[in-house]
Amino acid sequence: MKDHTGKELTRFSVSMETDLLAWLDGYAAKRGSGGNRSEAIRDLVRDARVDEAMESDDTEMVGTITMVFDHHANDLSDRLDAIQHDHFDEIVSATHVHLDAHNCLEVIIVRGRSADVRSIADRLLGTKGVQHGRLVTTTVHAH
Ligand code: NI
Repeated sequence: MKDHTGKELTRFSVSMETDLLAWLDGYAAKRGSGGNRSEAIRDLVRDARVDEAMESDDTEMVGTITMVFDHHANDLSDRLDAIQHDHFDEIVSATHVHLDAHNCLEVIIVRGRSADVRSIADRLLGTKGVQHGRLVTTTVHAH
């Protein structure tokens, strides 16, 4: 048996608590995988594998840093720009949206060693005045 990319599939049986299985079925239905349990489990395992890879400092990662801040806060825009210039090798692009008269949304695409990506995100999101932010990472080696 093969998947849509031609990779060999192995069938195995899983024992699971009934309530956990009910949750899995709900998850599979929501994921738009047609309620397919196998596909839902594969997605969850891939997520766990990406998380594990992120814990290693040398994994090549790509990610987005999303942050919201008030550009009136003392030279915050300049400070965030300076941090990005320090890491021009890892920062692929940045999109800035003026949300309203005060607030800005910035989405930054980063690529590099997981340790570097994490440290850039920590610096940006830890800058005083950044109201909310999140780093989302993935890898091209998940499949
Ligand atoms: Ni703005």
